[in-house]
Amino acid sequence: MEIRKMEPEDLDQVMSIEEVSFPTPWSRESYEGEMQNRLAHYIVGDHEGQVVGYAGIWLIIDEGHITNVAVHPDWRGQGVGEILLNALIALAMIRGVQRMTLEVRPSNLPALRLYRKLNFLPIGLRRQYYSDTGEDAIVMEKLLLPDGFV
Ligand SMILES: CC(C)(COP(=O)(O)OP(=O)(O)OC[C@H]1O[C@@H](n2cnc3c(N)ncnc32)[C@H](O)[C@@H]1OP(=O)(O)O)[C@@H](O)C(=O)NCCC(=O)NCCS
Repeated sequence: MEIRKMEPEDLDQVMSIEEVSFPTPWSRESYEGEMQNRLAHYIVGDHEGQVVGYAGIWLIIDEGHITNVAVHPDWRGQGVGEILLNALIALAMIRGVQRMTLEVRPSNLPALRLYRKLNFLPIGLRRQYYSDTGEDAIVMEKLLLPDGFV
């Protein structure tokens, strides 16, 4: 699997994964907008021309906020999500990010376990963050030490 930048031509495949992955999927227009957003960076996992997963991050000065990660249902449980997130963590480190954050539904055990495995720690709750179900969001954080800190 190759990790590469998401391109507009990927959006048909991205949307088909998005629609089966989230209770309230982002629209195609949201992704088109994100691809114009100079703070946003989206990557895909590409297996022989098939998009098997994707992930995105906003890089704002020394902070990184993970916006999305999803893997095609047929490809889950094979390390793709972990590879995508590690690629975003590497990008964040190169860009001098010191703090990465994300939100996750308390009911999303696979995602929670994935983030814990990558040393994201829960730091707070956003009450009724998800308007579709009224669920709270768990806010998770991973601190990255600047080069030469230790
Ligand atoms: C969450 C998601 C991206 C994980 O992707 P994946 O490629 O299946 O995950 P990986 O195979 O890389 O698994 C890495 C780790 O995640 C955790 N994990 C993944 N799937 C899991 C599951 N079904 N149950 C429990 N833990 C799971 C494990 O800790 C796993 O490490 P291990 O294999 O050493 O146990 C995927 O399930 C998905 O696309 N879900 C729908 C979209 C979504 O919820 N995104 C997150 C929004 S916050």
